[in-house]
Amino acid sequence: MGKCVGILTAGGDSPGLNAAIRSVGRVLARNNCRLIGFKDGFEGVAFDRYVELDEAMLSGILTVGGTILRTSRNKPHKMPLGKKIVDMTGAIVENYHKHQLAALICIGGGGTHKSALLLKKAGLNIITLPKTIDNDLGGSSSCIGFDTALNVATSAIDSLHSTASSHKRIMLVEVMGHKTGWLTLGSGIAGGADVILIPEIPYDIEKVADALKARSRSGKLFSIVPVAEGAIDKVSAGKIARLEQEISKCSDKSRKNQLKAQLAELTAYDPARIFALAKKLEELTALETRVTILGYLQRSGTPSCFDRLLASQLGARAAQAVLDGDFGCMAAFENGTTKLIPIEEVAGIRKELTGDHPWVVCARKSGVSFGE
Ligand code: F6P
Repeated sequence: MGKCVGILTAGGDSPGLNAAIRSVGRVLARNNCRLIGFKDGFEGVAFDRYVELDEAMLSGILTVGGTILRTSRNKPHKMPLGKKIVDMTGAIVENYHKHQLAALICIGGGGTHKSALLLKKAGLNIITLPKTIDNDLGGSSSCIGFDTALNVATSAIDSLHSTASSHKRIMLVEVMGHKTGWLTLGSGIAGGADVILIPEIPYDIEKVADALKARSRSGKLFSIVPVAEGAIDKVSAGKIARLEQEISKCSDKSRKNQLKAQLAELTAYDPARIFALAKKLEELTALETRVTILGYLQRSGTPSCFDRLLASQLGARAAQAVLDGDFGCMAAFENGTTKLIPIEEVAGIRKELTGDHPWVVCARKSGVSFGE
């Protein structure tokens, strides 16, 4: 047997992870290499929990959602151990060498890439793959899992039409996406929504109500409004901007921590927010309003064809990078093909949905209201 390679999946799970693992394993096996999978993200390397990913293990997983390796959000340098949080970077380096790994392949999103960079700096041969249903990882035009989530959210919006229309209701649909609106805007446009609320464009509730009333006056007796979980009203956005500015200028450590705590509270996900929005819209429009939270269904189930293709291509590229000795890179997707980019160019860089993005331009041109 030739080289031994390690692989892990970290962060929130996404459909297509198993397709990526399978692809890496198949390419490596054909080149006489062994693949071992670490369990529960970086935890598995820190505590040396792993499984042999031979052909039998990789068989039949292409279409299966989730990850056979399981996942966690625990970081190498902030690992829970009993009641303590400890730095396990040293243990990870040790276990990497214990297995005489040629490389460690880390599949994940924003948090995973920051951890991967840390391990690269600790001297390990790291290769990463972009995975997140939020699609907010820089460097890759598509991330594993996004397309499947987009299909789930769009088909939920499609389905909600019948009940929304039967009851002449406003239906708010909360869509995942963390602090970005990729999933909400994509599914909103694909589902034909006329009002879409995303974090990148803070909304004015009066304007949202006006758009809904105008739709009702024009004879459309129901509305489906995709709302990103990170969508924010203009007043809160102003408070957040002021706090961020204060934090950047503050030199007093304890005051800074206080401000950071306030900021965290304001920006944390709160399921109560969408219900409060529904109540307020009902008051302003006099139209009955209901809430649907799509939640984890968006990350569940079998990966779409696109995600299977994407994960297979990226997995093959990552395996090839190991064989070629191209370490410290992410296998990215761009213009229908794969390429390698340094992890430094990805870690900590969020792919922004900007005002000139074709989806935003198309929505604006076709009269979609962002509640501005
Ligand atoms: O990053 C993927 C994602 O599903 C986000 O859209 C969401 O905000 C978050 O994960 C939920 O995280 P958790 O699985 O920790 O509840």
